[in-house]
Amino acid sequence: MIESDLTIVSNIVSGGHAFLSKCEGYSQDQAKRLQSECCSVSSIQSWPSRWRRLVAESDVGVVGVTAVDGNEIVELWIETSHHRKGIGAALFRKAEQIVTEAGFRDLTVHCAGSSMQPFYETMHCVLVDVQPCPNGPLAGWPVALYRKELEAQPSDAPAPAAGCRTVGVLGFAAAGDR
Ligand SMILES: CC(C)(COP(=O)(O)OP(=O)(O)OC[C@H]1O[C@@H](n2cnc3c(N)ncnc32)[C@H](O)[C@@H]1OP(=O)(O)O)[C@@H](O)C(=O)NCCC(=O)NCCS
Repeated sequence: MIESDLTIVSNIVSGGHAFLSKCEGYSQDQAKRLQSECCSVSSIQSWPSRWRRLVAESDVGVVGVTAVDGNEIVELWIETSHHRKGIGAALFRKAEQIVTEAGFRDLTVHCAGSSMQPFYETMHCVLVDVQPCPNGPLAGWPVALYRKELEAQPSDAPAPAAGCRTVGVLGFAAAGDR
């Protein structure tokens, strides 16, 4: 991974956390801890190497990122000025394809809050549970679990989103890859 990609992804995740902090009403302390613990270049670099990491690129460069661990989407962040252009859906469909091809029959996502619910409902995910976050900056905050049952066979390759040129692998080596 070239340094600039890491920086762009770090900026996207940081902007996403700032966006969510406003939408969800996280406290200043929570917002600050999320920025320092989850958004730095070193935190992105320390995402576990087993995660499948993908970026969406538009003409301006990287505009979204997702990571998949087993059957779970563990990260999904779209640059805030590129929301509602179909990029989140494109990354979601690519993640869904990866999970299906790995043989899982369902896909899951945990989200701290409810502002992303309309997006996941559009992706045909069902809210199945809400539990308090066990630890970290959002300890005690309600965390929603969404689930989507998958077809046994992956559907055809997803069509690219209008605002998104390609969806490709995030080309960096996390600590464990080296
Ligand atoms: C949630 C998120 C990933 C969605 O990405 P996006 O690229 O903006 O979403 P898309 O443009 O692909 O949306 C696809 C459809 O989902 C629905 N949708 C998405 N965001 C929505 C919103 N805020 N309100 C209502 N519906 C929404 C719409 O039906 C939309 O289609 P439309 O724009 O043609 O109406 C993005 O808002 C984001 O990064 N949010 C902050 C981080 C976050 O919440 N990540 C998920 C953590 S679990």
